[in-house]
Parts: sequence; structure tokens; C-alpha cells
Amino acid sequence: ESSEIGQLKNLYKTAADVYHYMLTTAEIGEQALDYLHQRGLTDDLIEEFGLGFAPSQDFLKTYFETHGIGDYQLFRKSGLFTEHGDGSLVDRFHSRVMFPIRNASGQTIAFSGRLLTKDDKSPKYLNSPETLLFEKSKVLFNFDKAKSVIRRDGEVYLFEGFMDVLAAYRSGVKNGIASMGTSLTDDQIYQVEQITKKVLVCYDGDQPGQAATKRALDLFEDSSKIECEVVNLPEKLDPDEYVRKHGTESFKKIVHDDRETVLEFYMRYFKEGKNLGTESGQLAYITDVLGETAKVSDSLQIQLTLGRLAKEFGIDKMSLESQLRVLKQQLG
Ligand code: CTP
Ligand code: MN
Ligand code: MN
Ligand code: MN
Ligand code: MN
Repeated sequence: ESSEIGQLKNLYKTAADVYHYMLTTAEIGEQALDYLHQRGLTDDLIEEFGLGFAPSQDFLKTYFETHGIGDYQLFRKSGLFTEHGDGSLVDRFHSRVMFPIRNASGQTIAFSGRLLTKDDKSPKYLNSPETLLFEKSKVLFNFDKAKSVIRRDGEVYLFEGFMDVLAAYRSGVKNGIASMGTSLTDDQIYQVEQITKKVLVCYDGDQPGQAATKRALDLFEDSSKIECEVVNLPEKLDPDEYVRKHGTESFKKIVHDDRETVLEFYMRYFKEGKNLGTESGQLAYITDVLGETAKVSDSLQIQLTLGRLAKEFGIDKMSLESQLRVLKQQLG
């Protein structure tokens, strides 16, 4: 490709190759490689995902210059550098493990770099800025590799982060993608919808992850025909932490066997922060759950939910049903 886009893609490909070399072969990458091994990644996996290491502040720029690759204008547009007031460029990424972010065709279009040890000064993950190649809200990590498996299995696992996708992958769960954070977008949903009808939301077990799960379910509900289920990880763990604590076999089993329907998720989610020992707490909880039940069309799921609510709170199922009808009318 001779276009600007093509030139940027070439630059990113070279950068990915050089970062990868620094991690896997150069002595300077030894600490980063140890770090990844300690987090349970094998050399095969590092290879497969093309992980890398960005060493010092002026590494990439020096590499490009000594090899006669690119020019100042291309460097500026690439997002691989930050520009000083005097127009000089320095590497954006340094002292970070590098995750290539690839488009659906498998071409590297951005990076995310993780600090080896989190400090308070800079973010744990630093991403490429928006460029001609990259709009973060339109990319799903690992979509390129996962899409054929997603088609074959008829379902996709949606994770938050890079290490979650990798942890699932080494557990044999290869139909996993990541929204790269908790702000899933309509554009990402649209891409998923092109290849499958079923999404298993497997966000982190912590509070932000659970809140993001609710948001994701709302988005899928509003903007797609996709059916969702939720994987509830215990102990507030994220998928990567779960695999390291309980092992790959246990992970594989839990994501297959311990799926919640959307309403089961809400029955758990809405209990958070409420005092179910009080009547007002109970009413608030039941109202919240019924509010979500009103949006569901699967009558079996509805009946199961009403049955469980009736049993748990000693309420007549008929009155739950009439309350549900009221809520449905309000929805229109
Ligand atoms: N993220 C980001 N920028 C940040 C923090 C997070 O882009 N400053 C994205 C990354 O894609 C990250 C995901 O959000 O993988 C989920 O964030 P979080 O759960 O906080 O990190 P983990 O993926 O658990 O990171 P790690 O296991 O490496 O600590
Ligand atoms: Mn290699
Ligand atoms: Mn998280
Ligand atoms: Mn996490
Ligand atoms: Mn994690």
C-alpha cells in the first residue's frame, strides 16, 4: 500500500516486530519477559499475540531513523510519539509491555502498553491515541483471531481486558474478545452482531465490572437482537485472576456451566447495597427486578423469576404478575 494508511500500517508492523524482538530476544527485555511468565503466559502465547516490550524513551525513534524508516510527518501522525513544544518527538511508550491491537484483518493499528509495576504517576495501561488507523471505540481486542471460533461455536465471550482474553485463550476458550475497558460502544456491538447471536458477558467480578455488565446488557437489549448471558466470577475476581487462582480447567468449567440468565444476573445485582431485612429494602429490590423483568419477552424466564421472588419474599405470585403488567404498560 502506498497510501498514508498503508504507510502507517507498515510503521505499526515494524514497531510491533521490533517491540516483540526486544521482549523475546534482547537482553533488555528479560525483566518484562519474566513478568509475563510470572503472570502465567507461555512463550507460545506471547508469540501468538505478538506481545512486546518498549524499553527506553528514545528507542523506537532511533530505530526508525537508523533504518531509514518513515519521516517526521509520518511519525507525527502515527501516535507512536509525543510531541514536545519545540516540535521534537519522543517515544510515547517506554518501560511497558506492549499489546498490539489489531483490526479485524489482523493488522496492527494501535498499541496498549502496560507498566511492569503500577505507580501513581502514569496509567497502568497507556493506549495509542486516535489516528487515521485507530478509533478505540470501534475496535475489539482479539476480534481478528476469535471471529472464526465465534462463528463455529455460535457464541462469544466479552471480557474487559487483554490479560482476560489471554487467560481464557490459554484455558482453551478462544472465542474471547475484549472491549478494552468497561465502556462498550454501539459500534462494537454492531460488529459482534454481524457474526453471532449470543454474547456471554464476562466482565470483572468487582463493583465497576458488575456495573459495566448491567450497562452492557442494557446496550445489547436496546441495540441488537443478541441474546446475553452473564458469567459470574466468584470472589470479585477478574478472569485472569480467576485462572491464576483456580486454574485453567476450573475456568473452562465455570464459563460453560455457571452462566446466569439476564434476570438471574439482575436478581443478584440489585441485592447490592440494599437492606433486605427491611420492608423498604425488599420493595426497592422487587421493584428493580420487576422493572427488568418487564423488558424480557421469554415467558419461561419471566415465570421462573416471579416464582423465585414469590418464594423468597412470601408474596403471592398473582400480585407480582399484576404489578408486572402495570410496569409493562408504563414501558409502552
Ligand atoms: N484499560 C485502559 N487504560 C487504563 C486501564 C484499563 O485502556 N488506564 C483497559 C485495558 O484494556 C484493560 C481493561 O481496561 O485491560 C480492564 O481494566 P482493568 O480491569 O483495570 O485492568 P486489567 O485488565 O485487570 O489489568 P491487569 O490484569 O494487567 O492488572
Ligand atoms: Mn517471535
Ligand atoms: Mn476491571
Ligand atoms: Mn481486570
Ligand atoms: Mn486483571
